[in-house]
Amino acid sequence: MKADCRSRTRETLAFPEGFWWGTSTSAHQVEGGNSKNDWSEWERQPGRIADRTVSGKCTDHYSRYGEDFDLAKSFHQNAHRLSVEWSRIEPNDGEWDWEEVAHYRRVMEALRSRGMRVMLTVWHFTLPKWFARQGGWEWSRATDRFVRLTRLLAEEYGDLVDAWITVNEPVVYLGQSYGIGVWPPGKRSAVSSLRVFFALVGAHRAAYRTIHRILDTPERKVSVGIAKNVITFETYRPHVLTDGIFVKIADSVFNRQFFFWSGSESHDFIGINYYFNNRVKYVPTGVRNLFHEVHNENREQSDLGWEINAEAIFRAIMGMWRYRKPIYVTEHGVANADDSKRPRLIVKALREVHRAIRAGVDVRGYFHWSLLDNYEWSDGFSGRFGLIAVDYATLERTPRGSARVYGEICRENGIPHCLLKLTGHGVG
Ligand code: BGC
Repeated sequence: MKADCRSRTRETLAFPEGFWWGTSTSAHQVEGGNSKNDWSEWERQPGRIADRTVSGKCTDHYSRYGEDFDLAKSFHQNAHRLSVEWSRIEPNDGEWDWEEVAHYRRVMEALRSRGMRVMLTVWHFTLPKWFARQGGWEWSRATDRFVRLTRLLAEEYGDLVDAWITVNEPVVYLGQSYGIGVWPPGKRSAVSSLRVFFALVGAHRAAYRTIHRILDTPERKVSVGIAKNVITFETYRPHVLTDGIFVKIADSVFNRQFFFWSGSESHDFIGINYYFNNRVKYVPTGVRNLFHEVHNENREQSDLGWEINAEAIFRAIMGMWRYRKPIYVTEHGVANADDSKRPRLIVKALREVHRAIRAGVDVRGYFHWSLLDNYEWSDGFSGRFGLIAVDYATLERTPRGSARVYGEICRENGIPHCLLKLTGHGVG
């Protein structure tokens, strides 16, 4: 797709001044060379990873972050979201690795020196082995340890971070790790799920208070939130009452419970990770299987078989606007190795983000998932989400066409008309 269309301002769907244009990554998915967390063990167990790959040296972002940020900068990004790898910083209970602490400082300085804002995630799914061995989030001291880590990060990086995410997608973690058991620790237990849910709620609240206590000044209040995977639900059969009821239940259970229990006063903003639109159909086949999610019937799919529905991001944003907090889209993207679908997805979705802003929603930024191809958890390396393609044999980076499309949008702080036209839309 052609991306170098020089636009005139009046033909651009302009975003608010100061809008954050970024990409997201998480440490374990890009860094490589770490064997101190639970995932590095999990990946090696037979049958855990669909394509049987282990993260290994991964993209070696750990050493090549400078090169990667140069690329991000060349595509006019003004922000980046990343996470620290807890097991590097605290390889044993209570023992800090100051070399690693200094490493992440250099990483964030590299972003700042390129004029990019930093959104830092404290915890993105991976646990140090010592913490996992104690029972992970079911351990009675879990919150205490998490807060100790958060305190260190706030003290060390407070001057570099523009926005804090305490935990990434708590409900997804619960489902994968304690519901269907396809992520470590591989449990299937309702009791454990509940315990971990409340542990994460407590951990978030405590971390929220800790960051504010350490970093707030009379002049500046820091911004702290979570990244929530938001799923939009719709009825499979619009006029069937039972489908409608299940949509409401699913929306409340999946999208709202964390905010309900943690209280809206412990969120300065709402981070939305958006990937899924689920159509729900009532199928009373048994107590455990009352409704059924219908995917992909006559709809476009990603390489991982996920339904693509860029437009539905509008409903995701409007749904979360009920909390009347600033919103960042903290993740949004698609597994699409040949890049045939990503450019259109980006433009279509951003058009909807713009529509939400026009409707009065305070959306402050958009972070595409992801800057580069990475390790997609139990799908291994097969899900290629990057604006930049990575050759895992040579580690060579090659920007995809979508990187240029996104770059054009970042540069313009808006969607140039020529890009709207390429996706079959006019300026709305
Ligand atoms: C997670 C990422 C993941 C992405 C694509 C989000 O659920 O935060 O770690 O790679 O979605 O599946």
